[in-house]
Amino acid sequence: MKTGYILVSGGSGYIGSHTCIELIENGYQPVIVDNLSNSDSQSLDRIEDISGYRPTFYKIDLCDRKALDRIPKDIIFDGLIHFAAFKSVNESVANPLMYYHNNLESLINVLHFCTERKIPHLVFSSSCTVYGDATELPVTEETPLQKPSSPYGNTKQISESIITDYLKVHPELSSISLRYFNPAGAHPSAKNGELPQGIPNNLLPYLTQTAVGLRKELQVFGGDYNTKDGTAIRDYIHVSDLAEAHVKAFEYLMIDRMGSNYELFNLGSGHGYTVLEVIQSYEKVSGQKLPYKIVDRRPGDIEKIWASAEKAEKILGFKPKRGIDEITRTAWEWEKHFRKNIEKSIS
Ligand code: NAD
Ligand code: UD1
Repeated sequence: MKTGYILVSGGSGYIGSHTCIELIENGYQPVIVDNLSNSDSQSLDRIEDISGYRPTFYKIDLCDRKALDRIPKDIIFDGLIHFAAFKSVNESVANPLMYYHNNLESLINVLHFCTERKIPHLVFSSSCTVYGDATELPVTEETPLQKPSSPYGNTKQISESIITDYLKVHPELSSISLRYFNPAGAHPSAKNGELPQGIPNNLLPYLTQTAVGLRKELQVFGGDYNTKDGTAIRDYIHVSDLAEAHVKAFEYLMIDRMGSNYELFNLGSGHGYTVLEVIQSYEKVSGQKLPYKIVDRRPGDIEKIWASAEKAEKILGFKPKRGIDEITRTAWEWEKHFRKNIEKSIS
């Protein structure tokens, strides 16, 4: 029998790969399950390059429950971190069934797998999107959830409900849902980062692709919000800090100090930045001007949201170490590294 393993679904993706690095650096052995629908196996090279350890990898679609049988039964998993999901708000509006199918069926299979393999702990990737256009700021874990603004957001709300319902009848399983605010930035080594397919939807990858000349200019969506400079406010959290929070959440589950078998935490910095402040941060750390233009609001966007990070700090002992400048600097360093070294080796 082998022990000390953690199954990481979606582990070759953006947040999953950074979390694998953090797990390895904390003495754990991640085993990755991913169907590579939004990542590629080169992320395993990057994990190995940074951490010195190559996780075992299974190319499995989590919607295919039988395929999970390929994971050897003699591996004893201490826990499972479930990142695997589709995550594009726009795509989910255009193709809702694809999102309900992928995000919910994979979760259901993961829960079955936890029971079948007697995996005691589950960490789930949720999102601040469950708060919708929040009624109070900062958003605490007690802030009432709003009707989701997209099928993607709805899959996260439904997923949280599926987990809580399942845990009621499976007290042997304990779980934490982590509601991420805006994960951004790249590994401090610049050797791992976000790799969106096609034209990026999210701010940071669009910004860095503009910075390296791949895009003509950044469109700032909306300049007439009720904020200090008219642009929308978000709470950006560095992906390596987020990765560290997963290790802390996992360890919290292992020491079994929870009053119940389910907890949820916001993962944000506690600070909100406008889009223009993010651009200013990039211009400061790079010493370069970014071409941008203020355009109409993006449909479905909310004006402002940021987290109360108090619960994660008090209970998990987690406090993000890196601020907005570290986010824009590492995102830019990664974009340059990728375009110079990795992209060439692929083409
Ligand atoms: P990502 O797309 O980079 O990683 C997700 C990984 O899951 C990919 O490698 C993809 O190939 C894999 N995957 C998807 N469906 C699968 C399936 N059916 N079977 C096996 N593998 C599958 O995304 P990410 O940014 O790393 O996000 C990870 C999680 O965090 C997701 O659940 C996402 O919804 C959530 N989240 C992300 C953000 C964000 O801004 N990045 C914000 C809030 C929540
Ligand atoms: C959205 C989702 C979130 C999801 C995340 C990852 C909502 C409320 N939030 O976050 O749940 O997990 O995407 O896919 O649906 N912006 C520009 N120009 C750009 C891109 C973005 O100005 O080219 C602005 C946006 O208007 C927003 C901010 O930058 O104000 C951040 O946008 P983005 O990175 O797309 O994240 P969210 O929309 O906050």
